[in-house]
Amino acid sequence: MSIEIPDGLTELLQSFTVEVLRNQPGDLLDFALQYFIQLKENQRGSAFDNARNSANGRPGDNVSSGRAVNFGMEAVQIDSENEEEEDDDEEFVAPVINRFLRRSSVCAEAFNPDEEEEDKDPRITHPKTDEQRHRLQEACKNILLFKNLDPEQMSQVLDAMFEMSVEAGEHIIDQDDDGDNFYVIERGTFDILMKADRVERVVGSYDNQGSFGELALMYNTPRAATIIATSVGALWCMDRLTFRRIIVKNNHKKRKMYEAFIESLPLLTSLQVSERMCVVDVLSSKTYTDGEQIIAQGATANCFYIVESGQVQITMNTSKLKKEEGEGVEEEVEIAMCTRGQYFGELALVTNKPRAASAYAVGNVKCLVMDVQAFERLLGPCMDIMKRNIVNYDEQLAALFRSNTGIHDNDTA
Ligand code: CMP
Ligand code: CMP
Repeated sequence: MSIEIPDGLTELLQSFTVEVLRNQPGDLLDFALQYFIQLKENQRGSAFDNARNSANGRPGDNVSSGRAVNFGMEAVQIDSENEEEEDDDEEFVAPVINRFLRRSSVCAEAFNPDEEEEDKDPRITHPKTDEQRHRLQEACKNILLFKNLDPEQMSQVLDAMFEMSVEAGEHIIDQDDDGDNFYVIERGTFDILMKADRVERVVGSYDNQGSFGELALMYNTPRAATIIATSVGALWCMDRLTFRRIIVKNNHKKRKMYEAFIESLPLLTSLQVSERMCVVDVLSSKTYTDGEQIIAQGATANCFYIVESGQVQITMNTSKLKKEEGEGVEEEVEIAMCTRGQYFGELALVTNKPRAASAYAVGNVKCLVMDVQAFERLLGPCMDIMKRNIVNYDEQLAALFRSNTGIHDNDTA
């Protein structure tokens, strides 16, 4: 009797054996169980993506990357000690095994100063005309990830960046792909799309400013979202090596510097330690001098602030507080004072409205600043605390209104 070996059995057992040898699991049966469950899930995901791609007339374009698991939602932990090994694996091991190896967690430090031999790599320079360099500097001036760089690092960043024109509809990044570049927007609008429960939807957009594509490079993860140009535009791109050599190394220092402060913030108590470290990665420190305006009431919002040192005065235009029209001259009244560890600028980001109040530095002030995309991505678990405080704003204003008008609750009864 001849025994037929089913198609794929040899590969299946070989892959499994490789993983057993690599992981040396204590409980072989348990490991096998997890391995094959994960394998099955990945297979289902691929089948779904294949079906959807052919329905879209895109024959398997992202399946070719071999990734059907939604890493954006699940996120990924890369152990810095195994980072090199992870990178190597991607080159010659079947992708499904790679995915199995990635355990879910929010994110982790992907830089190990002992392992990154950054100075051995040649510096990358793309020559630029004065006009190009000027445009590049303008585009980079508000990029938070660059704010903490010293002048030498900044100059290396500018040298390494190169220009790219984009057309409406062009995919700049596809979710689940490997990360190649980091992008700074010079002009143009872009949609951010993410797959949730296998349905892709727009979760945000960029309007002629900002940057994207840092996550895959920071954490050695697949791209967490798809970015599509919705107009013609121009981008400045930085290669992965330069990004890791300068930005990721700088983040490592930042984590050490801000670890204790971030751990002490009541707002962030709902986050896990690794999530709090990811918050540090996207924060940058900005300084303000006495009287400087940090936020203007009525302006469009794109940042969130935590006071690192000094005091921030929150003021509101009195026309908001006094109901009667034409009453006296408009003036700004103080409605709150924020000190170290307190935050402001969340309201407009949560409500999607213009800034409800202004903010001014009292003396020299240092704030940690986060952009709206990072705020939405990272601070979801802190929303309950924020919302509780937002409810108090109304009380605060009602009290001010009463003291400005002389009307008390009993008067209206
Ligand atoms: P990266 O994962 O490298 O590629 C996709 C990029 O989309 C990601 O980096 C971020 O820069 C950007 N992005 C914007 N909003 C989000 C979001 N909510 N979740 C994940 N990535 C986002
Ligand atoms: P945002 O509206 O984004 O910008 C102004 C900030 O002032 C606001 O977010 C809050 O963080 C802060 N603030 C403090 N007290 C109040 C208040 N009573 N009403 C509105 N905003 C307040």
